[in-house]
Amino acid sequence: MNFHVLTLFPEMVAAGLSESIIGRAAAKGIIGINAVNIRDFTDDKHKKTDDYIYGGGAGLLMQAQPVYAAHKSVLEKIGGGKVRTVYLTPQGKTFHQGMAEEFAKEEDLIFLCGHYEGIDERVLERVVTDYVSLGDFVLTGGELAAMVMIDAIARLVPDVLHNDSSVVEETFSGYLLEYPQYTRPEVWMGERVPDALLSGNHKKIREWRQQKAEERTRLNRPDLYAAYEKLIQCRRELLRDKLHHMDMAELIFREKAELLYHDSEGTLLRDRMSGCFMFTAKSREAGGRILDAFLPSGKEMPELWAVHQDFLGEEMARRLNMTVFLCVRQAVYTRREAPPLKAQDIRQLSAEHAEVVRHHYAMEDEDYIRDRIAHGAMYGIFVENELAGFIGEHAEGGMGMLTVLPAYRRRGLAAALESFLIHKTLQKGYTPFCQVEEENEASLKLQEKLGLYIAREKVWWYKKSY
Ligand code: ADE
Repeated sequence: MNFHVLTLFPEMVAAGLSESIIGRAAAKGIIGINAVNIRDFTDDKHKKTDDYIYGGGAGLLMQAQPVYAAHKSVLEKIGGGKVRTVYLTPQGKTFHQGMAEEFAKEEDLIFLCGHYEGIDERVLERVVTDYVSLGDFVLTGGELAAMVMIDAIARLVPDVLHNDSSVVEETFSGYLLEYPQYTRPEVWMGERVPDALLSGNHKKIREWRQQKAEERTRLNRPDLYAAYEKLIQCRRELLRDKLHHMDMAELIFREKAELLYHDSEGTLLRDRMSGCFMFTAKSREAGGRILDAFLPSGKEMPELWAVHQDFLGEEMARRLNMTVFLCVRQAVYTRREAPPLKAQDIRQLSAEHAEVVRHHYAMEDEDYIRDRIAHGAMYGIFVENELAGFIGEHAEGGMGMLTVLPAYRRRGLAAALESFLIHKTLQKGYTPFCQVEEENEASLKLQEKLGLYIAREKVWWYKKSY
């Protein structure tokens, strides 16, 4: 991922992002930091980039021309296309973790840093897609704010952080504040490190950390704690019908869920990563009520919904002008041991495989395939060094896209690929599941053979119709 920063102080940005984790990631080429000096783009022979404000007022304003030219130069360098351009300003939307997750999905991001009294409105209107603030205070310029955002976004880019945060245990720590941590010496100013942490007993350590994280959150952020408790309760209820609702329960377990609505009559979740909505309700009336609560006029609705009852689908079609494009049954692997793994040449795929994957898997577009590959979520099976088949994890968490190329069928490669991904998923502490189209008999048979249980009820995928 590349961060382009348009600024009058490029050295400040380059220096601020050249150290520690972000600096190392940039040095290794995992992320790119491109500080662009707006002054290099002014037409003014004295290299001036600012001027007095029409109508009066204290101070100077950055002029449109150099900002526009600097922005254009970045677009040309990237090769055009739509690139989100963030203007740092106290007038923007307040930055938060969900926004960082959203921005981390982009390949390129441009940050525009104002100085003095700001920037001529006309160029902002032309280039800016997102106005973002760090909070209700005023900085002398946007550079520090851009650096804060880059730090928060870059640490979400795969491989920037080394510690394997994918090893998730049943703690839901992602919804809580961090537990306290200690390093050597064991006793400092008479205070000992808590016994549990010195015990070497992993279960005990995990429980201690969970308890402290909960305590801290309850005391310092009762709002977060209330949301956390509701999510835990919601997951428990979803798991009463786990085959039908494993997608939603896993979204919560994998710490990606935003709970939009939950009561005994229904649940509406948003996947914070993919933006898709997942919806279940006991009755058509309850579903209608929940939809009404989430349909205030003008509010942007997500493109994709996974709907767990047919009557809800009918409501969606009627109210939201959405159409069903896929009807699936969920298959869930409920054991903790993976099916036997055969020695096979299975490797994580890289960008060079995107085209061939897309060629053999027409259900998704190439951008989606590229995104999955970039997240390290696609695996290929190779026979004599040739790609013979592939499987991936969908953005919402299910296994899918399982394909064996025609020349390699009937050799057990599909089973090998899925067993491999089941194994990987279990290693992370997650429950493997997939969604199979009802008419795909071969896949349903494979699921049963591998020991997955298939839900009786279906899930319908809806998208906006234009
Ligand atoms: N520029 C000046 N103040 C700012 C703030 N609070 N957030 C983002 N950018 C800014």
